[in-house]
Amino acid sequence: MFFKVAISSLITIATSIYFLYYLPPFPHKPYYHSLFTSDSLSDNESISNHLYTLTRRPHIAGSEANAEAAAYVLSTLSSYSIQSHIASYHTALTYPESRSLVLTRPSPDPPVRFSLEQEIYEGDPYAEPASQVEPTFHAYAKSGTAVGPVVFANYGRVEDYAVLKQMGVNISGSVVLARYGKIYRGDIVENAYAAGAIGVLIFTDRKDYGGGGAAEEKWFPDGKWMPPSGVQVGSVYGGAGDPTTPGWPSSEGCERISDEEVEKSGDVPLIPSLPISWADGDVIIRTVGGEVGIGDDWQGGKDSPVYRVGPGPGVVNLTYKGKQVISKIDNVVGIIEGAEEPDRFVILGNHRDAWTFGAVDPNSGTACLLEVAERMYKLQKKGWKPRRTIVFCNWDAEEYGLIGSTEWVEENRNMLGSKVVAYLNVDVAVGGPGFEASATPQLDGLLVHVAKLVTDPDNSSQTVYDSWVSSTNNPKMGRLGGGGSDYAAFVQHIGVPSADLSFGGGYPVYHSMYDDFTWMKKFGDPMFQRHVAVASLWGLVALKLADDELLPFNYHSYALELQKSAEELKDRALNKVVTLVPLLKSISEFEKAATKINDEREALIESKGWKSMWKDGHKIRELNDRLMMAERAFTDREGLSGRSWYKHLIYAPSKHDDYGSKSFPGIDDAIEKAKSINTTESWRSVQHEIWRVARVITQASLCLVGKLT
Ligand SMILES: *[C@@H]1O[C@H](CO)[C@@H](O)[C@H](O)[C@H]1NC(C)=O
Ligand SMILES: *[C@@H]1O[C@H](CO)[C@@H](O)[C@H](O)[C@H]1NC(C)=O
Ligand SMILES: *[C@@H]1O[C@H](CO)[C@@H](O)[C@H](O)[C@H]1NC(C)=O
Ligand SMILES: *[C@@H]1O[C@H](CO)[C@@H](O)[C@H](O)[C@H]1NC(C)=O
Ligand SMILES: *[C@@H]1O[C@H](CO)[C@@H](O)[C@H](O)[C@H]1NC(C)=O
Repeated sequence: MFFKVAISSLITIATSIYFLYYLPPFPHKPYYHSLFTSDSLSDNESISNHLYTLTRRPHIAGSEANAEAAAYVLSTLSSYSIQSHIASYHTALTYPESRSLVLTRPSPDPPVRFSLEQEIYEGDPYAEPASQVEPTFHAYAKSGTAVGPVVFANYGRVEDYAVLKQMGVNISGSVVLARYGKIYRGDIVENAYAAGAIGVLIFTDRKDYGGGGAAEEKWFPDGKWMPPSGVQVGSVYGGAGDPTTPGWPSSEGCERISDEEVEKSGDVPLIPSLPISWADGDVIIRTVGGEVGIGDDWQGGKDSPVYRVGPGPGVVNLTYKGKQVISKIDNVVGIIEGAEEPDRFVILGNHRDAWTFGAVDPNSGTACLLEVAERMYKLQKKGWKPRRTIVFCNWDAEEYGLIGSTEWVEENRNMLGSKVVAYLNVDVAVGGPGFEASATPQLDGLLVHVAKLVTDPDNSSQTVYDSWVSSTNNPKMGRLGGGGSDYAAFVQHIGVPSADLSFGGGYPVYHSMYDDFTWMKKFGDPMFQRHVAVASLWGLVALKLADDELLPFNYHSYALELQKSAEELKDRALNKVVTLVPLLKSISEFEKAATKINDEREALIESKGWKSMWKDGHKIRELNDRLMMAERAFTDREGLSGRSWYKHLIYAPSKHDDYGSKSFPGIDDAIEKAKSINTTESWRSVQHEIWRVARVITQASLCLVGKLT
């Protein structure tokens, strides 16, 4: 008996030694990472099928069609063996109930009653489901009637009103006609209100969305441009998350603030507004007399009439009635558990809800999310396991005000705050050619690295990186201070390192009924190879963050960005009593801390043979935690003055343009105020804000260094 066992053990040991010696080495992480972007794993057919299925019907947040789309995402993720569930919220969404717009013209022209409808073209395969598209409206617009002479306010920016004021134009009691294209539409309405307007119409000018307005430019379906009847729908809400549950999750039966309190928050408009087409805007602007706005910037494209500012003589009656409904929204969450550090999360997020069909915005991103999930499933079948946990999030009600992501972040705030390594957002994955990226700066280097590993979908003899830098010699990197997509809660509320990726950025049929599969197939990405590239870039960034033993964060880039922003402050003609010294000092400490942790990181990489592996395990974890938590240190419990949901003191939206990304937003707000009132106290509050920013930067340095004071 004993003899037999011993013999069989010997055989087992011998076979093991034999196999250990002769088997090819186990595939390592880099092997899987290069496999991830290979042709054998990419599948443009499958991406195209996902997009086709997701966009067969319009699927606005809160609709049955969007719940069906959620079920599709859930079952697709589940079919890739990803544990998935739905996280629902009950949120206050608004829908249009009735709208009317009548223009009274000087005699003898008869009044015009606009149909406010987007036209269906001959042979449109989506003609039938188009009847399910909600009438054109602004989400959270104020219900009411505004009757008054029209004033043309250009792009509706603060500087446009400064020009009108300088020209002596009387805006009070007027209905403002403004055009889309430069700032967030909610701020167009807010700026008009602040100037005394009683209602706002926002049109899509052919100059901006129609190829410059030249007659030879063809519109959809013959060309990519917005048709004359096309309307950009969208939200005019200025906050993030359900307006009735500021700072806490909208679970069923939760506490809600009253409509009056919502109005007091300053985030919802106090005057009615409607989005209108170029065709309707053109009819209206022809009835506006008065002077010409100062500068060419006030004129239309080729073939358009001379734009004058008014007021009147054209008078409009704008009437809008909306209804607010507590609607159930569904985030889909899928999880691949990490093998070694399951309690560290890398999150990929994209929203699903669309104003209409949403082929570009957002389901090009959803199709890519599913492609990334499928490729990771294939990697798992070949033996790969992520070191850290990978989480797929498919958000709902982003269009209304980043609601699905914000409610989820508010609900899971503590878990996320202690465990998320990074959040990677893709909203519009593809609107055309050309890679675009924005990130918190410690991720810059990683994005550059990954862009060098992926082939340019529009020119196979170069990489995405080559085409990215071709015009500027430097990769153009945006920052995440704006409120444009679902990264906002992650960066601006809880301080998670984040990135946002896209191909083609802006596209002409944005938020209109023409954003459908036909447009994508004809103009956005005929071969679906740009989608393949986005999936490669997005997935590879996630794989590096999930698998690299030491997190690929470089805080040197952050220090450089902080320095740049501080330099910009020097040019802001500050009052002599204000000093930037505390800020500059904190940034130079931060730079030293970044160098120190980079050196530690290098030393760990060099010392790491298989012998020291066990010893280093907790050291690696500790270093990674410092890299992960340094971003959190930029947040402040009290948040920005007067905008306390925004906790991050380095990045937040501009006060007058929610799309605009500001560095040091608190300092910026204070300077603006001080410049307009010029009191000692107002300049002291600029100094206070400078101190506050300096203090969070010092916190971040201490976090990187990792020693108690
Ligand atoms: C501005 O126009 C409104 C009506 O549109 C009128 O009631 C008001 O008196 C005007 N203000 C001035 C200063 O002309
Ligand atoms: C404006 O239009 C609304 C809706 O059609 C109508 O009820 C209202 O009487 C109109 N107001 C004026 C002053 O014409
Ligand atoms: C494709 O990339 C190569 C290498 O960068 C470049 O020489 C060539 O001009 C590019 N082709 C086009 C059509 O842009
Ligand atoms: C996928 O890419 C191949 C090669 O570029 C192309 O021939 C095919 O038409 C594409 N499929 C779809 C659905 O676009
Ligand atoms: C602001 O006030 C100070 C004195 O309190 C004065 O010297 C300065 O000229 C003022 N600046 C502006 C722009 O009005």
